[in-house]
Amino acid sequence: MFQVTPERPGDLPNIEKLLDQSFGTDRLQTRVAYSLRLDVAPLPDLCFVMRGPNFLCASIRYWPVLIDGDKPCLLLGPLAVGQAWRGGGLGKILLGHSLARAKVLGHNAVLVIGDPEYYQPFDFTADLAANLILPRPVAPGRFQGCELIPGSLAGMSGTVAPAPQ
Ligand SMILES: CC(C)(COP(=O)(O)OP(=O)(O)OC[C@H]1O[C@@H](n2cnc3c(N)ncnc32)[C@H](O)[C@@H]1OP(=O)(O)O)[C@@H](O)C(=O)NCCC(=O)NCCS
Repeated sequence: MFQVTPERPGDLPNIEKLLDQSFGTDRLQTRVAYSLRLDVAPLPDLCFVMRGPNFLCASIRYWPVLIDGDKPCLLLGPLAVGQAWRGGGLGKILLGHSLARAKVLGHNAVLVIGDPEYYQPFDFTADLAANLILPRPVAPGRFQGCELIPGSLAGMSGTVAPAPQ
């Protein structure tokens, strides 16, 4: 019934509605992750949606960031599942699918700001992001990293900033 497909330009209005419901209409001002996406486009190869026959029920995106000025990395998010479909495994399917794709495309590591319980099963840990500095601090444990190439994030330190495109 549900299918993971690449995001299409025509999906934008429905994705915006989904994000309004999930993160609020003030998300650009209030959420730290959005300050890392200013003036940067999401990576088209890593933007996926989950759709039914004639509706869109979930979305995931990834953005390019730089650590310490010159080390590329992915920033995951937002991940959102429509209220009507939550708890049915769609979020985890989108997460697994997109991370596998990021690995195939040769990306080295992924950062996320989110609930640790949700991301830990996908090998995200706060330890890997412990020496990375966000534009503003977030609650302990929420800033996490995951290595797609072993050793790519361990020992890294410095600021995280949007990658110019
Ligand atoms: C978080 C979200 C993406 C999860 O998607 P989903 O399709 O409902 O989740 P899934 O069905 O794949 O996974 C369900 C499991 O995750 C857990 N879970 C769901 N939301 C969670 C959260 N915010 N924190 C921790 N665990 C969570 C559930 O308890 C459930 O656990 P179980 O498998 O042990 O029963 C969805 O609830 C959502 O869009 N929330 C609003 C936006 C948001 O918070 N996005 C994530 C940013 S970090």
